[in-house]
Amino acid sequence: MKLFFGAALALVLAAPALAQTTVTVNANDPQPAYDKRIFGQFAEHLGTGIEDGIWVGRDSAIPNENGVRTDVLEALRAINVPVVRWPGGCFADEYHWREGIGEQEGRAVRINTHWGYVTEENRFGTHEFMDFAEALGAEPYVSGNIGSAPPFEMAEWVEYMTTPIGSSLARERAANGRDRPWNLTMFGLGNELWGCGGNMRPEYAADLTRRYSTFVKVPSGQSVMRIASGANDMDLNWTDVMMERAGNMFDGIGVHYYTIPYDWGHKGSAIGFDEDQWARTLVKTTHMDELITAHSEVMDRHDPNRRVALLIDEWGTWYDQDPDTHPGFLRQQNSLRDALVTSLNFDIFARHTERVRGANIAQMVNVLQAMMFTDGPDMVLTPTYHVFDLYQGYMDGTVYPVEVESPTYSVNEWSMDEVSASSVRGTDGVLRIGLTNVNPHDAEEVTIELDGATGSAVTGRMVTAAAMDAHNTFDQPNNVTVQTFTGARIDGDTIRLSLPAKSVVMLEVR
Ligand code: AHR
Repeated sequence: MKLFFGAALALVLAAPALAQTTVTVNANDPQPAYDKRIFGQFAEHLGTGIEDGIWVGRDSAIPNENGVRTDVLEALRAINVPVVRWPGGCFADEYHWREGIGEQEGRAVRINTHWGYVTEENRFGTHEFMDFAEALGAEPYVSGNIGSAPPFEMAEWVEYMTTPIGSSLARERAANGRDRPWNLTMFGLGNELWGCGGNMRPEYAADLTRRYSTFVKVPSGQSVMRIASGANDMDLNWTDVMMERAGNMFDGIGVHYYTIPYDWGHKGSAIGFDEDQWARTLVKTTHMDELITAHSEVMDRHDPNRRVALLIDEWGTWYDQDPDTHPGFLRQQNSLRDALVTSLNFDIFARHTERVRGANIAQMVNVLQAMMFTDGPDMVLTPTYHVFDLYQGYMDGTVYPVEVESPTYSVNEWSMDEVSASSVRGTDGVLRIGLTNVNPHDAEEVTIELDGATGSAVTGRMVTAAAMDAHNTFDQPNNVTVQTFTGARIDGDTIRLSLPAKSVVMLEVR
């Protein structure tokens, strides 16, 4: 008997403690909506991001709708992409729109000086892009050229796209196949004016922004959001100067932040990484939170009523490009780690919806943290795509603040909360709770307290895999995909679940 108790005690002492997380959803404290523009995407003339990735041409043997690959279009429609930003990026400030209209045969062939020093044949121009956005049901976010073109060029472009009456530009548009104007709702005033857009000082960029913004005019009855070129990472002075000197001339300002495991010289590999790289990538991506907080504080000083939106114009992971791919094409594999980067950022955006009213992941197809890869007639979806799918119920829903009490996950000097969460009541009335467990080894026991809400049923969908760098290939497209999650139980205002290791789970409470 004595021996039995001793053995039992030893067993209890040896058993690993069950990690416990508590998530409180404050449904009594609704926050500004989770703007659907936060699910925006970025498509630049870069590598095969557009040519082959989106555009194959009307005569292609690859199935297409008006020149756009059908497989890509259908996959993007399935996640309801709300915004597409185009044509850059750095490309935007060297782009001359007139070279991309009219007969495709006669279009100017340029050098893409930023991305691989390859020829750019201008096959995908204004008509192709605006028709693509329309076919997708997405808002077109066109980035103008401030860096190397005069304001008149920009003004004419805007008129070409938007005027309903018979100006010469409207007639030219009609002759090129589009009678009705397009609905241009977002217009960027240059890109990275501090760098590839002209290496400007913020004072000069602010003056140019005032000047160019003056000439972005749409007909009455239409409205266009004018978006200033924003800061790089934590360059708060940029935001400060732009807001102070030109803040009344734009409706949004961008900021760009890329998650790079190491540094620009050696960024780290997209797959085949160890746990240190896993942890440092996930910790570094959560820098987005302090970055938004800091820029928002600067904006609040100039714009206390928060008229001007902060747009996370470019975000996502940037690794060393895949072996044997074209230098300058930024092709990188996309793994389960990227799925978690995505969900962690979606949670962060939920904490800042008073200011963050748009974001564009970089980029849509084949480039950086892509939604999908194409190769000739083949197409494969990435883990990132599947997280966009999981979270799409957040679009335009009401954000509820969440408090998370979670153990810490640590590897070497990299530490963060083991569990991240956010909650949004969708426009369909369904309460959604997104959960991420960054621990690649252990499940996490999670208790969710609904403060001000109850439910009688909970369902779930999940993205996870056995390996940290699990990824999809053309031969194995379903290594990482959306699975049904049945592990949650609800009892009135309490939900309990075991959150699998290295997983993203989206719960729906009814
Ligand atoms: O997304 C790739 C590049 O990153 C963009 O062209 C530029 O804006 C940024 O530096």
